[in-house]
Amino acid sequence: MKTVIMFQGNGMPQYTEDFPEPIVKNEDEILISVKAAAFKNLDKSMASGKHYTTEGDIQLAKVIGGDGVGLLANGRRVYALGVSGMMAEKAVVEKSRMIEIPEGLDDITAAALPNAVAGSAMALRFRAAIQPGETVLINGATGFTGKTAVQIAKYYGAGKIIVTGRNEQTLQLLLPLGADEIVSVSQNDESFIAQIKQIHNNTPIDIVIDYLWGHSAELILETLKGKGGFTHRTRFVSIGSITGDKIQLSSEILRSVDLQLSGSGMGSWTKEEMQKLLKEIVPEMFRLAADNKLKLETLNISLMDIDKLWELEVTDGKRLVVTM
Ligand SMILES: NC(=O)c1ccc[n+]([C@@H]2O[C@H](COP(=O)([O-])OP(=O)(O)OC[C@H]3O[C@@H](n4cnc5c(N)ncnc54)[C@H](OP(=O)(O)O)[C@@H]3O)[C@@H](O)[C@H]2O)c1
Repeated sequence: MKTVIMFQGNGMPQYTEDFPEPIVKNEDEILISVKAAAFKNLDKSMASGKHYTTEGDIQLAKVIGGDGVGLLANGRRVYALGVSGMMAEKAVVEKSRMIEIPEGLDDITAAALPNAVAGSAMALRFRAAIQPGETVLINGATGFTGKTAVQIAKYYGAGKIIVTGRNEQTLQLLLPLGADEIVSVSQNDESFIAQIKQIHNNTPIDIVIDYLWGHSAELILETLKGKGGFTHRTRFVSIGSITGDKIQLSSEILRSVDLQLSGSGMGSWTKEEMQKLLKEIVPEMFRLAADNKLKLETLNISLMDIDKLWELEVTDGKRLVVTM
C-alpha cells in the first residue's frame, strides 16, 4: 500500500508504494481505508521518537500519523485513533475509539479538528473547569489549536478572552472568532508584564491556557505574583511548549497567589475524561463545525509530498492535512 514511513535514527519520512497492509490482531480492532490524516506537531515528535509517549520506541520502520478519517467496509465514515499509523491507504483502528462523522463535515476538517479539541476543550473543561463569564488568557493563540481554543472558550461561555502571540496579523484574525484583547509577546518584558497586570487588575484572569511555556509563561506567572494579601484564584494549564520545555519558577509565586498549576495531555487525562472526549466533546465539536459555527483553516497536501513539507512551518494557524 501507499504510505509514509520513518526509519529509526533517520530523521526524514519516506513515501513508499510498497508497504504491507497492517493486520487486525483481535476483535477490538478493525481495518479502515484512510481518506485524510492531519499532520501535527504530535505526529512529528512521535514519529521521530521525541515525544514523551514514544521515548525508547525501537520499531525499525514505522508508518506515521496518529489519527485520521476513513471508511469502514460498510461505507460508514469515521474519525479514529490508529493502532497502526494513519498516513497510509489502510490502517487498523480500535473499534471503541471511532467517532461517526456528521453529514456536512468534510474529511479534511474532520481529520484536523479532534487534536485541537483535545488540546483546548480538555484543558478548559477538566483542568480549569471553566465557568460562564470567566476571563481566559490564551498564551500562544495563533496556532491551529489556539484558534480553536478561542472559539471553544467562547462557546463554553468565557466572559473575556485575551490572546497572546508574536504574529500581529494572525492575532487580529482572532478578534472576530471571539478574542477581546490582544497582547504581543514580541514587546519587551516590562511592557508585556505591565499590559497583563493592567488586564488582571481590571478583569482578574481566571484561566491561563498555555501553548508556549518558556519565557512568556515565566512572565505571566510573574505577573500573577501577590504581595501577601488575598489574591484572585487563577488556574494555569500547560498544553504545549512551543518556546521551550523548561522555565524558572520562583517558589514565592506559588506561595503568594492562589494558583493552580496543571497540564493537559495524554497521560494526564482520566479514562472517564478520555471517554467524554470521544463520546461527547468531539462529536459536539463536529456538529458545530458542520454547522459552520467553528471556523478552521486547513491546507491539503498529498501523501507523496510529505517529505517536502516535513520541516515547513505553517505560520497562520492553518493545519496541514494529508489526503491518501
Ligand atoms: N496536550 C495536548 O493535548 C495538545 C493538543 C494539541 C496541541 N498541543 C500542543 O500545543 C502547541 C500548539 O499546537 P498547535 O496545534 O496550535 O500548533 P501549530 O498550529 O503548529 O501552531 C503553533 C504556533 O505557534 C506560534 N509560534 C511559533 N513560535 C512562536 C514564538 N516564538 N512565540 C509565539 N508564538 C510562536 C506560530 O504562530 P505564528 O508563526 O503565527 O507566530 C504557530 O502557528 C504545540 O506544542 C502542540 O504540540 C498539545
